[in-house]
Amino acid sequence: MNETKESHPFLEGLSSHRGAPPTAIVIFGASGDLTARKLMPALYNLGVDNLLPADFSFIGYGRREMTNDEFRHSMKEAVEKFSRRPLDEKLWENLSKGIRFQVGGYDDAESFARLGETIESLEEQVGGEIQTLFYISTPPSAFASILNNLGMSGLAKRNIGSRRSSKVVIEKPFGRNLESARKLNKVIASHFDESQVFRIDHYLGKETVQSLLVQRFANSIFEPIWNRRYVECIQITVSESIGVGSRAGYYDQSGALRDMIQNHVMQLLALTAMEPPVSLDPESIRDEKVKVLKAIQPLRVDGEESEVVRGRYVEGLVEGEKAVGYLEEESVPPASTTETFVALRLSINNWRWKGVPFYLRSGKRMARRASEIAIQFKLPPGILFSEKEKFDVGPNVMVLRIQPDEGLTLTLNSKVPGLETRTQPVKMNFGYATTFGSNTPEAYERLILDAMVGDGTLFIRGDETEASWKLFTPLLDYWAEDSNHPKSYLAGSWGPVEADALLHRENHEWRVAGSG
Ligand code: BG6
Repeated sequence: MNETKESHPFLEGLSSHRGAPPTAIVIFGASGDLTARKLMPALYNLGVDNLLPADFSFIGYGRREMTNDEFRHSMKEAVEKFSRRPLDEKLWENLSKGIRFQVGGYDDAESFARLGETIESLEEQVGGEIQTLFYISTPPSAFASILNNLGMSGLAKRNIGSRRSSKVVIEKPFGRNLESARKLNKVIASHFDESQVFRIDHYLGKETVQSLLVQRFANSIFEPIWNRRYVECIQITVSESIGVGSRAGYYDQSGALRDMIQNHVMQLLALTAMEPPVSLDPESIRDEKVKVLKAIQPLRVDGEESEVVRGRYVEGLVEGEKAVGYLEEESVPPASTTETFVALRLSINNWRWKGVPFYLRSGKRMARRASEIAIQFKLPPGILFSEKEKFDVGPNVMVLRIQPDEGLTLTLNSKVPGLETRTQPVKMNFGYATTFGSNTPEAYERLILDAMVGDGTLFIRGDETEASWKLFTPLLDYWAEDSNHPKSYLAGSWGPVEADALLHRENHEWRVAGSG
């Protein structure tokens, strides 16, 4: 704490873009993977774009002793390795002056008192009040201790009532089931006002996810057909080609349902299915998301009518390379019953969607990395162009491609040029990269910036997390008692055959995701 006032603000002269007040971000779990891969590179890129507030500083907080210099060095390496733009030495030099490390426990009051002193001394250097953004990026077992200590130390209430009031960002997983999510929400509510709380789901920071609202509500041609009269089914796929890598310790306790479906995939579903909000303010959007989540019917979890398939990959070829099965991955217990794939069918019981199946799937070690939302429309009545040999007529499908190759595809039926009338489905394609260039900000850049300016639109409200857990907790309880192993699928495939059978029951087929 002996830096001079002059050396402290690391991005001198920065304008406070979108009104973010002077801010100190405190990252708990600063020596972890997320800080290196995502958070530090995001801060760096915000710096490159001149989007950090003036008098910005970053306090890395962790349990392992480290000097400021050692921490700065590791952060520099992180930027070199993971930033979407190369490191600029001059900018880094400026930036790193405001980075420091503080060692401390997550459950001892003394460490938090010291953190408070550090923040006060930053305010002295700056000569005014600063906003503190506490970013909890530790294993979930530490969440409650950190929140309680922020509350008891008075840090949660700093500058309360002003726009410089403390904010807290909480990483996933937010609970393991309904009960633990409720408990966590209670701990939060005992120290923070909901307006100070930012539960993160990085999918909401992805450009294409944000543009879903624009696509739906800034165009007048989609909304009239976005309902049960025109839509046959909706398919949401978030497939990954990677396996669990070195994360088995976490993943085996979690599984695909908790890791991807309950949060990321359900957010995609909520944005796709919700009613138009009355305005773009955070509460209006989140109210609509909660309403649609509450309209989802309880899942049928067993028997012939089960609406869920859980799978686990076995050895196979992924993108031409041999990949071991989940049980052979490092640190996976041999008796594990954790799923690496889930497919499910949901029904939304409201005026708009009654009777339209929503099919969701997500898994690791699938054929390719692709996230997309496909709206499949009903077939035309089959009065004209109905001869199968002559006319190849498929359903109109609108695919919102979230990643990679972000864009939108619309499948239409067209006449094949020639003297005979023959038809064939064709695709109209809009690609973000072609139209807007490819260097779009990472999700974490947008989300950190939003939290700094206090905009909660792209974060999850407490009741949203509970609505989603309420749906899945009975399924998790059922699986916990079920001695059957998940269904096998080959690494590099689209999941177990049972996932196909789930759709065949209603004469539907999974799309080949990522095929435009
Ligand atoms: C994380 C999950 O939330 O999202 C990971 O914990 C997953 O298991 C990752 O790989 C996927 O994110 P993205 O942005 O690469 O699609």
